[in-house]
Amino acid sequence: MKNQQRETFSSGLAVFFATLGSAVGLGNIWKFPYMIGANGGAAFLLIYFLCVLFVGLPIMVSEFYIGRKTRKNVIGAMKQLKPNSAWKSIGVFGIITAYLIMFFYTCVAGWVYFYVFKAIKGDFSGVTVESSKAMFGAAVVGPISPIIWQIIVLTVVSAILIMGVQKGIEKVTKTLMPVLFLLIIICDIRALMLPGSSEGLKFLFKVDFSMLTKQSILMALGLAFFKLSLGMGTMVTYGSYFTKDNNLINTSVKVALSDTLVSVLAGIAIFPAVFAFNMKPGAGPGLLFMTIPLVFSKIPFGNILLVLFFILTSIAATTAMMSILEVLIAYFTEEKGLSRKKAVIFNAIFIAVIGVLASLSADSSSILGNIKIFGKGFFDLFDFVSSNILMPIGGLLIAVFMGYMVKKDEIRHELSNHGTLNIDWAINLYYFILRYIAPVLLIIVFLNSIGILKF
Ligand code: TRP
Repeated sequence: MKNQQRETFSSGLAVFFATLGSAVGLGNIWKFPYMIGANGGAAFLLIYFLCVLFVGLPIMVSEFYIGRKTRKNVIGAMKQLKPNSAWKSIGVFGIITAYLIMFFYTCVAGWVYFYVFKAIKGDFSGVTVESSKAMFGAAVVGPISPIIWQIIVLTVVSAILIMGVQKGIEKVTKTLMPVLFLLIIICDIRALMLPGSSEGLKFLFKVDFSMLTKQSILMALGLAFFKLSLGMGTMVTYGSYFTKDNNLINTSVKVALSDTLVSVLAGIAIFPAVFAFNMKPGAGPGLLFMTIPLVFSKIPFGNILLVLFFILTSIAATTAMMSILEVLIAYFTEEKGLSRKKAVIFNAIFIAVIGVLASLSADSSSILGNIKIFGKGFFDLFDFVSSNILMPIGGLLIAVFMGYMVKKDEIRHELSNHGTLNIDWAINLYYFILRYIAPVLLIIVFLNSIGILKF
């Protein structure tokens, strides 16, 4: 009975925008540019692209399969596919990872919302290297304002999710994703009109392998995972809302390509300006919050540009957080019998309470900045454990499960929509990469990230 009432997205377009909304997030605008900056530009982009192809895509298709075939939350789905087995752990890891990511992601998103507000107030006009640094420090260290912004973020995401799959997730992503594209293109055009912008473009697009280290390959793979929201059931959960005639392989390819396009467009908005003002491209995580305000404020009409830029970043962060929280909501409504509203409110409050630990430990001079667990503060610990341990393990388990525990005929049946799609070659290719390439790469990355294998 419950399953019959389950909502789905209303069309293929809705599926595309919702899924893209999950993929496009702080990863594109915050992580991607600083990683490209630190790893020598286009060569890193190329490696990233291969990681998407050989690991990202097969895992994404697999998650969609698990979700749409069972039409259940991540734990329910695994229980249905392999009752009473340890494979349920894929779901359990997913739930834990979803919490860990939310704890720190809502904190960073809070800074972004705050920066929209500051940009509108005109706080960045005439900003200098020192004042930009000081402003970011104040925004992060708080202690009250980051917590308040984190709660505002959670309230916005919760309000959208309470409205449901179609009226909430679908409607918001269908409206905001095109807006995001438009805003990023406006920022790009402005950036390209700057004198000296070609330096930045050269940096982004000229392939120079000498800057690449083995470490950058591992970073590229981790980034591909984080970027495509993989390894923790987000795509299982969204897949469970897909229409039955959706071509899962096709959707995965379109989402991965569009997501990469957004990352590259973000790079085009950022690097020409960075080079035009002789700033360093490898500024690290501070690139978004310190370098961008500094650089954009020097451009004519730069203040408006800053407002647009931080609005687009907050759209990206918000639609991504919706998809992480939805993993938890689907679980609590379906497995624990909570109403949607209760599930959202309960989880939002829980995330706010623990998430405060992230907000209060984001910088070494934060109130809890000196508390270290395994040598890391809370903020870094949440990020590290989720991105470097649980997500690769989750991805590996999914690859092994799909590649070796599910019959190929069943996979072919579901991916071809019961034989209505004539895409055997794509299914075969997917199956080959899934069985023989993705798991090997994932094991290497995982062993390296926990320090067993040293490069
Ligand atoms: N993909 C998003 C980004 O790049 C973040 C995200 C959303 C995510 N859902 C996820 C990351 C699930 C890991 C797992 O910002």
